[in-house]
Amino acid sequence: MASITIRQLDESLKQRLRLRAARNGRSMEDEVRVLLREAAESESAQIEKSAGAEESSPGKSRGRRTEPSADTTRVLLVIGGGIAAYKSLDLVRRLRERHMYVRVILTRAAQHFITPLSAGAIAGERVFTDLFDADGELDVGHIRLAREADLIVVAPATADLMAKLANGHADDLATAVLLATAAKVLLAPAMNPHMWANKATQRNRARLEADGFAFIGPNEGEMAESGERGKGRMAEPLEIAGAVEKLLAASADHPLAGKRVVITSGPTHEPIDPVRYIANRSSGKQGHAIAAAAAAAGADVTLISGPVTLPDPAGVSVIRVESAREMLAAVEKALPANIAIFAAAVADWRVKDAGQQKIKKAPGARTPELALVENPDILATVAHRTRQRPTLVIGFAAETQNVVANAQKKLQSKACDWIVANDVSPQTGIMGGDSNTVMLVSAQGVESWPPQSKEDVARMLVARIAQTITEKKKT
Ligand code: CTP
Repeated sequence: MASITIRQLDESLKQRLRLRAARNGRSMEDEVRVLLREAAESESAQIEKSAGAEESSPGKSRGRRTEPSADTTRVLLVIGGGIAAYKSLDLVRRLRERHMYVRVILTRAAQHFITPLSAGAIAGERVFTDLFDADGELDVGHIRLAREADLIVVAPATADLMAKLANGHADDLATAVLLATAAKVLLAPAMNPHMWANKATQRNRARLEADGFAFIGPNEGEMAESGERGKGRMAEPLEIAGAVEKLLAASADHPLAGKRVVITSGPTHEPIDPVRYIANRSSGKQGHAIAAAAAAAGADVTLISGPVTLPDPAGVSVIRVESAREMLAAVEKALPANIAIFAAAVADWRVKDAGQQKIKKAPGARTPELALVENPDILATVAHRTRQRPTLVIGFAAETQNVVANAQKKLQSKACDWIVANDVSPQTGIMGGDSNTVMLVSAQGVESWPPQSKEDVARMLVARIAQTITEKKKT
């Protein structure tokens, strides 16, 4: 859909427009808006009629489709308030042509340009406008809208919407959904070229890019306002549909794209004095392999590692700690996250009063006795959180006997979602070795996995996480 410049219309059309605008007490631009809106609505009404809709009140069951199947791609389109909102109706059509299920949110400002009626008729689905929907039966709620989208497109993304997103506002349905989603978000900005070039908008764009938002456009060209030209036109619907397809394809290769994962790995060292410590035999191989597999699956991974000799996995932010208490503090700082995996072999106890100076032996002096105190349980602390609890909290259970029973006890007492249990008796060679034989213990039961390399265990675990997160989103 091309943008129009009133100046370029032919004289007789301009004259008629001028008369019409004067008669209605509107500016010529406003008159064009009204005309476009009427045209879009009458087209929508025809679509509605041909779709056999039986009811006409906005926001009701008019022309509603049945729920999509689990493998249908779900796109949530947020239409912001700008003249380019008209193009977004065409975008809905383009996405539906590609067999996508499209839900639409109209911001309050967008409703000055298009109505829920027209957007709803084209989407074949009720349109969402309010954060608090008085109509309880139809209230899907902003969290569900956020969760049930594979991708969110904001088109047009106005300067105001961008500013709100860059600052984490959530004072209407669109912004609340955008703040609550873990899905990738594609922004198609549209605004006056001066607004786009403004330092504040550019600051917001840079921040949004750094936060992981994807952009398409704006393009150069004529603006809807007379005589305006420059960078600010919304990308065309076909371009946006193409960008949607590309992002969706990328997320199929990267099933954890947009997810934050926090992983603990390795042993902890608990100081006895500045030169001595209590440790265990953990190498960190399994935790590090999980971090690498999660990063390869597109997740934003923070690995909190105790002292290990392994190289940092590629594409992972690594935070090095020594003791259990440092590990807990680093984990809490790394939250919020969608997924937390606790693979570290945390020392259960630390020395009560670790010496500030090296403990010296002296002829005839008594052998020192170490009093121990219990360390905080990092997994249990995070899993019991009521605020910012990750959606999936996964612990490990290193056992030398009664593996399943002990793992089930830990699942309960630590309130985690899954336990990856393994037998770490010395004869298994698992502690410090390259392979692992694990069982996945959850409320659903116990699943035995084959003996395999720690990298393969990591890949299987990540694939299972991706599958579970996708299913959770679709229920
Ligand atoms: N864990 C933790 N913080 C601790 C102790 C354990 O986060 N202070 C986590 C481990 O990372 C692992 C799970 O809890 O995910 C179970 O650890 P494990 O060493 O098997 O069990 P413990 O809780 O230490 O119990 P026990 O030593 O009695 O078997």
